[in-house]
Amino acid sequence: MTTTSRVVVAGGTGALGRALVELLLAQGDRVAVPFRSRGGFDRLRDGLPAADALWGAPAEISTTAGAGAFLDAAAAELGGVDAVAVVAGAYAGSGPVD
Ligand SMILES: NC(=O)c1ccc[n+]([C@@H]2O[C@H](COP(=O)([O-])OP(=O)(O)OC[C@H]3O[C@@H](n4cnc5c(N)ncnc54)[C@H](OP(=O)(O)O)[C@@H]3O)[C@@H](O)[C@H]2O)c1
Repeated sequence: MTTTSRVVVAGGTGALGRALVELLLAQGDRVAVPFRSRGGFDRLRDGLPAADALWGAPAEISTTAGAGAFLDAAAAELGGVDAVAVVAGAYAGSGPVD
C-alpha cells in the first residue's frame, strides 16, 4: 500500500533541498518549503512535474517563533506534517589549511 506523506523541507530551495523535494514529489508526497526569497521558490517550483503538491511560504526559520509559525502554517495547508527535513545551511569548513 502506498501512503502519501506530508513533509517540510527546510532549505528546499538549495541544491540538496531541491533534490530531496524532487524525490519526495516523485513518490507522491506533499511538500512544504519555507523560503527567504520568492525568486528562489519560483525557481524551485518552475518545471516540477508535480508542482501542485508543493506549497511554500516566506519564513524566518532561524528563530524558534519563525520556524514554529511556518510549521503551523504548513500543517494547516497540508492537513498535518509527518516529517521535517532540515537541509538549510551553508558550508563554512573550507578555510585554508596551514
Ligand atoms: N551540497 C553538498 O554536497 C553538501 C554536502 C555535505 C553537506 N552539505 C550541507 O548541506 C547544507 C545545504 O547545502 P546545499 O549545497 O544545498 O547549499 P545551498 O545550495 O547553498 O542551499 C542552502 C539552502 O539553505 C537555505 N538557508 C541558508 N541559510 C539560511 C537561513 N539562515 N535561514 C533560512 N534558510 C537558509 C538557503 O536559502 P536561501 O536560498 O534563502 O539562501 C538554501 O535553501 C549546507 O549546510 C551544506 O554545508 C552540502
